[in-house]
Amino acid sequence: MHRTHTCGELRATDIAKKVTLAGWLQTSRDLGGMTFIDLRDRYGITQLVFNMETDAALCEQARRLGREFVLKVTGTVAERYNKNAQMPTGDVEIIVESLTILNEAKTPPFTIDDNTDGGDDLRMRYRYLDLRRNPVRESLMLRHKIAKATRAYLDGLDFIEVETPVLIKSTPEGARDFVVPSRMNPGQFYALPQSPQTFKQLLMVSGFDRYYQIVKCFRDEDLRADRQPEFTQIDCEMSFIEQEDILNTFEGLTRSLFKDVLGVDMPSVPRMEYADAMKYYGSDKPDTRFEMKFVELNDVVKGQGFPVFDNAELVVGICAKGAAEYTRKQIDELTDYVKRPQIGATGMVYARVNADGIKSSVDKFYNEEQLKRWAEAFGAEQGDLILILAGGADKTRKALNELRLELGTRLGLRPKDKFSALWVIDFPLLENNEEDGRWYAMHHPFTSPKPEDVAHLEAGGLGKVRANAYDLVINGVEIGGGSIRIHDKDLQAKMFGILGFTPEEAQAQFGFLLNAFEFGAPPHGGLAFGFDRLCSLFGGVDSIRDFIAFPKNNAGRDVMIDAPSVIDEKQLKELAIKLAN
Ligand code: AMO
Repeated sequence: MHRTHTCGELRATDIAKKVTLAGWLQTSRDLGGMTFIDLRDRYGITQLVFNMETDAALCEQARRLGREFVLKVTGTVAERYNKNAQMPTGDVEIIVESLTILNEAKTPPFTIDDNTDGGDDLRMRYRYLDLRRNPVRESLMLRHKIAKATRAYLDGLDFIEVETPVLIKSTPEGARDFVVPSRMNPGQFYALPQSPQTFKQLLMVSGFDRYYQIVKCFRDEDLRADRQPEFTQIDCEMSFIEQEDILNTFEGLTRSLFKDVLGVDMPSVPRMEYADAMKYYGSDKPDTRFEMKFVELNDVVKGQGFPVFDNAELVVGICAKGAAEYTRKQIDELTDYVKRPQIGATGMVYARVNADGIKSSVDKFYNEEQLKRWAEAFGAEQGDLILILAGGADKTRKALNELRLELGTRLGLRPKDKFSALWVIDFPLLENNEEDGRWYAMHHPFTSPKPEDVAHLEAGGLGKVRANAYDLVINGVEIGGGSIRIHDKDLQAKMFGILGFTPEEAQAQFGFLLNAFEFGAPPHGGLAFGFDRLCSLFGGVDSIRDFIAFPKNNAGRDVMIDAPSVIDEKQLKELAIKLAN
């Protein structure tokens, strides 16, 4: 037997028991007459004691062991002289009677500790060692817990998990596909699914009614902290439902996960129309942990001879409660922040609401009376700081969104243990691409327009058509998104037409779906949660990488296995692939 107990298990009630433990050597302290070893496994750490007086040979052997050696020890549980209240096993230690080295280990390239000295790259290269560290292991445990609670909840509602294929034909979700060459069909390629979208719709045609899948998706897009080229969705679809049913069902799942996994009682999730999200937060994923809504000022500030405001399409600002004390330097930092090329504002106007009146950076153009009207527009009180941007409407809203988030962070309004969820609904169905002038589906081509807006599809009002589409946003992160689908063949064909497909192209690419819709497609809809994002939200960490066992780096590389990599000539030939030089 390799072990009778784990390294996290023994307590004072076990004193005097004979036990066998196995694990990795975390640390070793040689005090001359005694050697102490911390033995670690997934469950915890237990202190081992070797005594020179009782068994000199064994103690000598223990002294020579290195970090991360794999050991098996047998001994007796004893009360510890120096108890450690920080450790669950801190009341006891093992007086070791026999020791077996199960395996030796090279000195690890970084310390296997909560606060490691290893840099990102090194830890990724030796990810299997990184995974031995508590915080990383705990992240994966959290992931497991969320997956388990998700399955239990959906199972309780009669959802069934169905696996869909990974070698498929492209699913248009807006990103590039990863492709796989087919040896048996030279010159032809599979695509890896960006999501199981079309398959889950086909399952609805098959009558499966309530489907879910915790599933890998693949997207060849630029990577960020919350994006990986392969990531996981909790993908769901339901038949014979309306948008209201979907929102209620998955709000139920979300709230139950918060309760089960974090012990957090989440209030019912408010809804906000996309148009309002853009107007009041300049973003389709507003962080509603804090208020600081946009206030539009065109009517208040124009016509006083300040050209920046007079010439702007939109003058819009925010009011930071209690920030009037910000120094000139702090305000300059914020100005520099919005002027960075990624944000692109040309400048920032500020006004401090002080006890002795309102002071603005444009006092030349606005007198005390006028500045009072500014303060009224914001509902600003003494001690508040008003920040204003001006310019083209879309760009200015975007920039002010960034400023709002930055300010929220600086003012400590975005704590990781506070959660604020929101459904953003009524997204536009289509968006126009300035570069090629074409219309693209904002969500995907299978999303249905709102019935009351269908008439605009005819009347050339494409930009006005709203979709039965929704996103779940928590703390400013898009955690999930979905829509009610088109289940009518003619409307679907029309959508493809609007998106620039000829009937032949639509048939060639999506014939399988259009045909299926001729065999009795039920009304259906669904959504997908970004599972990795949900995990990182629950774990209070911005990057989803920590919640993926073997993630890719920002260049899309797995530095541990060194992928992607070149393949040899023979393999290329077999696949009928010629590389361009
Ligand atoms: P969507 O494209 O909005 O919808 O994706 C659903 C959710 O998946 C997460 N997500 C990602 N997470 C990590 N890395 C990525 N690269 C990445 N891309 C997306 C987000 C997002 O909200 N088929 C539709 C769903 C539906 O209509 O039912 C879809 O995939 O959290």
